[in-house]
Amino acid sequence: MSRTPRDILVTSALPYANGPIHLGHMLEYIQTDIWVRYQKMRGEKCTYICADDAHGAAIMLKAEQLGLTPEQQIANVKQEHERDFAGFHVGFDNFHSTHSEENRELSNLIYQRNKDKGYIVSREITQLFDPEKEMFLADRFVKGECPKCGAADQYGDNCEVCSATYAATELKNPFSTVSGATPIEKPTTQLFFDLPQFQTMLQQWTRSGTLQEGIANKLNEWLEAGLQQWDISREAPYFGFEIPDFPGKYFYVWLDAPIGYMASFKNLCEQRDDLDFDHYWSKDSKAELYHFIGKDIINFHGLFWPAMLTGADFRTPTGVYAHGFVTVNGQKMSKSRGTFIKAETYLQHLNPEYLRYYYGVKLSNRIDDIDLNLEDFAQRVNTDLVNKLVNIASRCAGFIKKKFDNTLADSIADPELLKEFQDSGDAIADFYENREFGQAMRLIMALADKANQYIDERKPWVYIKQEDKQEHVKDTCSMGINLFRILMVYMKPILPVMTTDAEAFLNIEALNWNDKDQPLTNHILNKFKPLMQRVEMDKVNAMVEQSKEEAAAAAALKPKAPLDPNSPLAQEPIAEEISFDDFAKIDLRIVKIVKAEHVKKANKLLQLTLDLGGEERIVFAGIKSAYNPEDLEGKLTVMVANLAPRKMKFGLSEGMVLAAGPGGEDIYILSPDSGAVPGMRVK
Ligand code: 2FM
Ligand code: ZN
Repeated sequence: MSRTPRDILVTSALPYANGPIHLGHMLEYIQTDIWVRYQKMRGEKCTYICADDAHGAAIMLKAEQLGLTPEQQIANVKQEHERDFAGFHVGFDNFHSTHSEENRELSNLIYQRNKDKGYIVSREITQLFDPEKEMFLADRFVKGECPKCGAADQYGDNCEVCSATYAATELKNPFSTVSGATPIEKPTTQLFFDLPQFQTMLQQWTRSGTLQEGIANKLNEWLEAGLQQWDISREAPYFGFEIPDFPGKYFYVWLDAPIGYMASFKNLCEQRDDLDFDHYWSKDSKAELYHFIGKDIINFHGLFWPAMLTGADFRTPTGVYAHGFVTVNGQKMSKSRGTFIKAETYLQHLNPEYLRYYYGVKLSNRIDDIDLNLEDFAQRVNTDLVNKLVNIASRCAGFIKKKFDNTLADSIADPELLKEFQDSGDAIADFYENREFGQAMRLIMALADKANQYIDERKPWVYIKQEDKQEHVKDTCSMGINLFRILMVYMKPILPVMTTDAEAFLNIEALNWNDKDQPLTNHILNKFKPLMQRVEMDKVNAMVEQSKEEAAAAAALKPKAPLDPNSPLAQEPIAEEISFDDFAKIDLRIVKIVKAEHVKKANKLLQLTLDLGGEERIVFAGIKSAYNPEDLEGKLTVMVANLAPRKMKFGLSEGMVLAAGPGGEDIYILSPDSGAVPGMRVK
């Protein structure tokens, strides 16, 4: 009796429309895509949706930098994102945009329903205002030190180092990224989502048992610390949806981003008769809803999102599945090391299924970070996919073709082994269902070892030469092909294209999970073509080199943040770069000013007699406007000791002392910390 398929709606986090997809992003899309493909193969009604996250100040700024309108910017990026996802065989059922009519309507609806129930409050707060540009500064226009962990150079909404969220006014030492000025605080009225009213609901939801332990613990920490009202409005200029009853103010990007999941699905429902929006989103929906996300956005999906949905009478997610970050060769992805690899760059050098497999091997249902070690990556793919898996088919296909008209035997030579392969399907299915892909891969590769062993023991390459052993060879190779076919069923969620090629070789319809149970007998194969090439380290290295070059080129183009016109750097920009060798040529020494005297007829100069710890030098220094000679005597300072002597109007200057400042009274000679003595070299 066939059972009713599950109705499952799956999402991956919506990528921002201000930059390219990289291999860090790809972990999540590959993870989700594997899970979705598995569900589809099992006959479930599974729908995978995504969209670009198109709003916010960052995107507006990016467009401005590129001389585009935000609409042009997001259209360009959407094309690139879709191309890259397709390149990695990520099979969305729909890829939409948060800047869409569906999303505007749903955002307004969710806002209005929450407001009607008293979950939206308005109050006056102080916000950062740029006194030079005369504008309120959206979070992305302010930088400073994180109020929680002290990390420098963090934006005004959340910290990229410790994931803390806060108000921009909480930043330490803030500055406007628009003008460089120190912002002032100014009162303004904003809207807040009253999250504390959802404390009990969220406590129950968190403990409902469907969340990963790591997520539930994190959410519990926040719940115990007490929830805060959440600022959901932003001042113009902002690229987003204007709030209907609050002209001039916009929904914060994180309000309408998750609603983008619904909007993308709604957009799909408009194209497909078999999908009904309410069936998936109504409060009493029996459909399942899963969000795959990175660990950095747990708060948005585990607190604000279920609360907003509840406030608006929609269902809450069945599960929120977070994964860790990607490191490359054990370190954070780095532009200078060439390990910040764009999806597009990877695809120019390597087969996407290599990465799908490697991430598959590494993925579990925990929140641990995942290391893409490039040597291990090449080795693992070559050992497992090429040497083990494809080898089963390639070593059998030749004999079947040459000697047996490309036709498989009438019966199965080793029914017990076949059954073992078929029965393993339940354990592998459980691993997939529970997102333990690494465990699934280990079990599949152990089976591949067994298939190879079986062929090794029966030595078809020896018996092919013996007339009376032809049946033995045919049986062995037919068995090998059947085992290979079952393994391809199990690998299909990970390797969709290689499986399609294998299906063509096997001369069969697209494989589904249960096809493992019907072996192929007396069946004609098609011509065998190599199913996967080895990973070559040369190509991996070329990809890293290209990534380095791309990062350097992008950095050269990137406009620097505007400087405060009063900043010393604005007046005296950093000079041309020099090599370390050039720097090492300068001999800087600690000296004592033993005598300081006025120089007749000189407006700016003082004559200094300097003790280098045994040797004396006379130096003329342009510091008269800032120092009385008697105040200098006895002080230690720093001089350039190997500067060629310069003949001046008033005498020979035998070096130079170091001082900073624009001039006039604002000149400061450098003095060493205590402990330094004349003659010491400064290094
Ligand atoms: O962190 C991010 O990259 C966001 N653009 C994810 C949004 S997910 C969803 F809520 F829209
Ligand atoms: Zn921080």
